[in-house]
Amino acid sequence: MQAEGVAVVTGAGRGLGRALALELAGRGFEVEALVRRPEAGEAVRAEGAARGLRVGWRILDVDEPGDYQPPAGLRVLVHNAGIDRDWLPLELSREADWRALFETHVFGLVELSRRALPRLRESGGGVLCAITSCSILTPMPLFSAYRASKLAVSALLESLAVEVAPFHIRVLEVLPGAVRTEMLEAVADPLPAAALGPYRDLASRVQQARSASVGLGVEPAEAARRIADAILDDSAPLRVACDPMGASLLGAWRTGDDEGRLRGMIATFATGPAGGRGE
Ligand SMILES: NC(=O)c1ccc[n+]([C@@H]2O[C@H](COP(=O)([O-])OP(=O)(O)OC[C@H]3O[C@@H](n4cnc5c(N)ncnc54)[C@H](OP(=O)(O)O)[C@@H]3O)[C@@H](O)[C@H]2O)c1
Repeated sequence: MQAEGVAVVTGAGRGLGRALALELAGRGFEVEALVRRPEAGEAVRAEGAARGLRVGWRILDVDEPGDYQPPAGLRVLVHNAGIDRDWLPLELSREADWRALFETHVFGLVELSRRALPRLRESGGGVLCAITSCSILTPMPLFSAYRASKLAVSALLESLAVEVAPFHIRVLEVLPGAVRTEMLEAVADPLPAAALGPYRDLASRVQQARSASVGLGVEPAEAARRIADAILDDSAPLRVACDPMGASLLGAWRTGDDEGRLRGMIATFATGPAGGRGE
């Protein structure tokens, strides 16, 4: 597609969303950055202006979209807003965390998509893009709530891709691996050991694996460049990576076998109640 018309990005006040808003403006889109606080909107506008780019902003909390309507001329919508919660075993996980993750990742995205699709159709087509996570490709323990919410998005995007193809609307799922943002940095925070009870040994192995991913992160601007390339590339596949770690996991997922992957993860993380191997 040509870089023209309006591109809207949710969660554009910081991290990957902010980098993407600036990148899409640099490519030639008229960008509407959706943020939760005016200060964040002003900051992204000023950063754009410093680079000679015009970036508009509006307030949108995807959990409470109110009467927000995507603008006329919409060609690209990027669902980027995302949250993380304490990584906990399902048995000890909190209902409020499950609800928050599904509210932002799934219900927020569904409602905004419902409002945006007529606009994209009026524009003669465009791209609906969502940022999920390459964690959905690996059965990572203690991560069920976040992964389930992102996998729900992945499934709905597949159906949507078929539904809206006749309207020349392309659906794109971006699966980041490690992008250096506040969300990635928080991954190095210790898991709440006191809350982990019999899962403490497992949690310390998970903590090691989590911490290792922090050093692999790419800068948000680099990830944003790859995402913008995929948005503009009409032959891009449904699922794309935006960083080397994501690319490697996506490649392994495409060529691997799911049972083998599960058995490998069980072997990697196996611990028993006494610290030995679980049976
Ligand atoms: N960084 C990674 O390595 C990584 C890996 C896999 C997937 N992802 C995904 O990539 C996306 C971007 O993450 P990031 O790393 O840039 O995270 P981040 O630095 O934590 O930024 C998250 C952004 O989402 C916004 N947000 C959160 N809840 C929102 C809501 N209810 N309504 C509107 N905006 C909301 C935040 O707004 P406030 O500033 O107002 O809080 C912030 O702008 C997320 O979907 C995340 O799940 C990231």
